[in-house]
Amino acid sequence: QKRKFDTLIEMHEKAATLYQHVLLKTKVGEPALDYLYQRGLTDEQIEHFGIGFAPTENSLLRRVFENDGYSEEMLAASGLMSQRDNGEFFDRFFGRIMFPIRNNQGKLVAFSGRLFDQYLLDQKKSPKYLNSPETEIFNKRQVLYNFHEARKVGRKENELVLFEGFMDVIAAYNAGIKNGVASMGTSLTSEQINTLQRTVSQVLVCYDGDNAGKEASFRAMNVINDHSALDISLVLLPERMDPDEFIQKYGPERFVNLLKNHRESPFTFKLEYYKQNKNLDNELDRLEYLETMVRELLSVNSVIEREVYIKQLADDFDVSVEAIQAEIQKGLTNQA
Ligand code: CTP
Ligand code: MN
Ligand code: MN
Ligand code: MN
Ligand code: MN
Repeated sequence: QKRKFDTLIEMHEKAATLYQHVLLKTKVGEPALDYLYQRGLTDEQIEHFGIGFAPTENSLLRRVFENDGYSEEMLAASGLMSQRDNGEFFDRFFGRIMFPIRNNQGKLVAFSGRLFDQYLLDQKKSPKYLNSPETEIFNKRQVLYNFHEARKVGRKENELVLFEGFMDVIAAYNAGIKNGVASMGTSLTSEQINTLQRTVSQVLVCYDGDNAGKEASFRAMNVINDHSALDISLVLLPERMDPDEFIQKYGPERFVNLLKNHRESPFTFKLEYYKQNKNLDNELDRLEYLETMVRELLSVNSVIEREVYIKQLADDFDVSVEAIQAEIQKGLTNQA
């Protein structure tokens, strides 16, 4: 008798195989495959990430599972089925492009399914991405998408790159960035940060260039700081693009260059971040902003780093280094 855990993993493997077969080998999968090709995915990427398609007909997986003799208890426990009031099971995922999600040990424990039919998306009756529910084998707080693969390269480069979405990880992979991971559509958890910390000492945050992404970068930076000793850098994408869109538009070389040569430190990120919604020609806004940045400087522990940032701030604001130093001195005295 196999353990329940192994059986649940096995069910996920079967589902992934079925979904990929439907995507690559059937008529029903063609629109989904076209959509993926349109988005620039190659067969190699589709295979590497195990992407598939759950057809619109919502009892395909159920019939396969019943045929293989899985009990109702297992159907319910898998998170791959929904249940009607009369107890009847049907597939949780249908009409969605399926991204298999492996846990940090590489076991297939969940899926995320993307709706691609624009009509259905416009109706907004169903979310763009639907994830597996939490199950005995899937703990959302623990899992980082692609961590199991990314850790190898991550170890070598001592860095992991944190993205917002699956498609960003997948597009970056094609651009040769193979140490990319994504948190599962939620904000970064302390468990995920621990996982990062056990593997590398540097994290590069590369979230979407829209406002939501900027706010998420700010939160991620703070929560990583609070929960770890990880070194953080950030990349800001221009024109509200996300990494996937940037790669599609400007190509992989420019993306790699951006990640290599246009990183921000947490401080330079904040330098920009706190400028939002402020009119720096206005005296009051200017003062408020400078005070905020001086407060930020107070929490920079390294003296050398602080010196560099003071210079940056002085340059940026056309005030003297001495004035900023005096403010910081005041702050330090108040703290004591
Ligand atoms: N997400 C989710 N549910 C949604 C929207 C988003 O779980 N309804 C999660 C997904 O993990 C997604 C991530 O949040 O990958 C980032 O969201 P977003 O930037 O909107 O999606 P993209 O990754 O850009 O997806 P795509 O390019 O396919 O539109
Ligand atoms: Mn986003
Ligand atoms: Mn995005
Ligand atoms: Mn996107
Ligand atoms: Mn630059």
